[in-house]
Amino acid sequence: MISAEQNELMTRIGPGTPAGKLLRRYWQPVALVDELQGDRPVKAVRLFGESLVLYRTKSHYVLMQRHCPHRGADLAYGRLEPDGLRCSFHGWKFDGQGRCVETPAEPEGSRLCEHIRTVSYPVVEKSGILFAYLGVGEPPAFPRFDCFIAPDAYTFAFKGYWDCNWLQALEVGIDPAHASWLHKFFEDEDPAASYGRQFRGTPSDSALPISKVLREYDRPDVRVEKTEFGMRLQTLRRIDDRETHVRVTNVLFPQAFVIPMNAEMTITQFHVPVDDTGCYWYAIFTSFGAPVDKQTMRAQRLKTYPEPDYRPVHSRKDGWGFDAAEQRAKTFTGMGFDINIHDQFACESQGPIADRTKENLGTTDKGIVLYRRLLVDAIQRNERNETPLMVLDAERAAQLTGPAAIDGIGPSGAMDQYWKEADALRRARSGWKS
Ligand code: FES
Ligand SMILES: [Fe+2]
Repeated sequence: MISAEQNELMTRIGPGTPAGKLLRRYWQPVALVDELQGDRPVKAVRLFGESLVLYRTKSHYVLMQRHCPHRGADLAYGRLEPDGLRCSFHGWKFDGQGRCVETPAEPEGSRLCEHIRTVSYPVVEKSGILFAYLGVGEPPAFPRFDCFIAPDAYTFAFKGYWDCNWLQALEVGIDPAHASWLHKFFEDEDPAASYGRQFRGTPSDSALPISKVLREYDRPDVRVEKTEFGMRLQTLRRIDDRETHVRVTNVLFPQAFVIPMNAEMTITQFHVPVDDTGCYWYAIFTSFGAPVDKQTMRAQRLKTYPEPDYRPVHSRKDGWGFDAAEQRAKTFTGMGFDINIHDQFACESQGPIADRTKENLGTTDKGIVLYRRLLVDAIQRNERNETPLMVLDAERAAQLTGPAAIDGIGPSGAMDQYWKEADALRRARSGWKS
């Protein structure tokens, strides 16, 4: 049972809040690299309730406070120069560290700008996503997870906006039972036509369509355990005495999960607050097989999450595209075949910030229970100035690899061994060294 105070503690992320301070201790996705292309790579962004401007100079990316420290004009409309951004109100110019380097309307010889600094945050690029560090002190090191170390050709990044608090968005990924229901398709498709789509291929070591496995074996046995990077979940669906389907999924603390997409690809998905009542998911698709067909995957996803803001075509306003005839005949939700829209409905329909005081959790929610415990523990550690889970130094980060995210069918009774071997085999066969 979650109290109202605890729900507030876990969900509110503005400056100075306990969860806001904790999450600022980690690198956070701020934009896709794709968004900073074109002839004016400047973009207004909102992250953790802060209004910021992200831009690219000749040599690097810069994220800084959106309002000019002179008299507050909007720097998202500033003039981009090779080595900085110039406010279009009185021409003050800021460099990549947020230092004011020119105040051209001031008298000759003025030293005013020596005292002016705006808020600016470090930005790095990883696998098609720009990550920013909004916290105090030194940023942590990146672990050697597959999604960060795979060569560019083997990853693809995309994002989408959900109009709700970040925590309920993350929690959908820690809930393995919903895939048999929310994402149920009444008919299977030819797996050969499943490229780039979730819950449409076949699991490893099987010819059964995954849509059939989820549909027909809908009462999974869920096992959860704490790991050094967060959590691992094993979701077992017993086909018969001989065979069992397993899905191994993970939480990368604090805000990402790693799940299998099919036999070859995994999805690492971050849930990043825009503010208390909105968030973006950022997904990195990582292939252990052939290089990723980025163009196809991007075109598929832009249909429901179009540029420039990657806001979905369906929302609360149109009932997420609900169609009663489709619900009777084709899908469990009646909300189309894009599973991201199903998940969006599940999160957004809980309200802007889910009221967890009214929940009645079941057995399959055990992953969510463990995650909340880890989150509250990390918030408390951070408040006591102790190092929270996954705030890593370089040495520790170099030791964290994987994690295994497997969707396969193996021998009933030897599932633990099966998924470890399936992961090792996939790595051994991959076109890059993982
Ligand atoms: S408000 Fe930006 S230079 Fe004056
Ligand atoms: Fe889902």
